[in-house]
Amino acid sequence: MKQWRLDFRVWHWVHATVILGLLGTVFLRKTFLSWRANAELLTQKLSEINIAVTADQAKGLATAIRAPMWEWHILLGYALAALLLWRLLLFFTQSGKMNYLNYKEKTLHKKMVTLSYVFLYAGLLFMAMTGLTIHFYEALSLTKDTAHDIKETHELVYNAILIFVPLHIIGVIVAESRDEKGIISDMIHGGNRT
Ligand code: HEM
Ligand code: HEM
Repeated sequence: MKQWRLDFRVWHWVHATVILGLLGTVFLRKTFLSWRANAELLTQKLSEINIAVTADQAKGLATAIRAPMWEWHILLGYALAALLLWRLLLFFTQSGKMNYLNYKEKTLHKKMVTLSYVFLYAGLLFMAMTGLTIHFYEALSLTKDTAHDIKETHELVYNAILIFVPLHIIGVIVAESRDEKGIISDMIHGGNRT
C-alpha cells in the first residue's frame, strides 16, 4: 500500500505551488511593483518629458500597473481556500492522518515537525479567512478602517508562513540526505507503507 495516496500527493504539490505563487505576488507587490517606488519613477520620467503629475495621480498610475498582477493574489487566494477544504477531507484518509498519529511515541524532533504542520494549517486558515474578509469587506458591511486592521493581522501572520516555507524545504532536504532517504521521492511516487 502506498504511504501517500495519489490524491494526497496531488494536493501537496498543488498546495505548495499555490503558496509559492501567493508569496511571489507579495514579493512583486513589495519590490518591482511597489506603488511607492513606481510612483516616484513615473513622476521623474514624466517630468523629463515635461508632464507634471500630482502625487495622487502618480499613485493612481502605479497601482494601475500593479493591479493585474495583484489579481493573481486573489485568484490564488480562492485556490488556497479550496485546497484547505480539500485538506480537511483528506484528514479522513490514512495518508491525511499519517503525520498526526502516535504523537506521544514520536522523538522530540518529529513532534516539532508535526507541530509545525499544525501551526501552518492554523496560520493558513487564518490567512484564507482574513484574506476573504478584506476582499469582501463591503459586502460584509465592514468599514474601510476595520478592513485595514484585518489586513495588518493578515500581513503579520504572513511572516510566519514566510519562515515555514524555507524551513520546511531545507528540513526535508536535510532529512533526505541524512536518515530519511526517499522522503522527498515518496511524496512524488507515493512510497511504501512500512
Ligand atoms: C518545493 C519543495 C517542497 C518539497 C521537496 C516538499 C516535500 C515534502 C515532504 C517530503 C513532505 C512529507 C514530510 C513528512 O512526512 O513530514 C511534505 C509535507 C508537507 N508539506 Fe511540503 N514540500 C515542499 C514545499 C512545500 C510548500 C511550499 C508547502 C506550503 C506551505 C508545503 C507544505 C507541506 C505540508 C503542510 C506538509 C505536511 C502534510 C501533512 O499534513 O502530513 N510543502 N513536504
Ligand atoms: C499564504 C497565504 C497568503 C499570504 C502569504 C498572503 C499575504 C498577504 C500580504 C503580505 C498582504 C499585504 C500586502 C501589502 O499591503 O504589502 C496581503 C494582502 C491581501 N491579501 Fe493576502 N495572503 C494570503 C492569502 C490570501 C487569501 C486566501 C486571500 C483571499 C482572497 C487574500 C487576499 C488579500 C487581500 C484582499 C489583501 C489586501 C490587498 C490590498 O490592500 O489591496 N490573501 N496578503
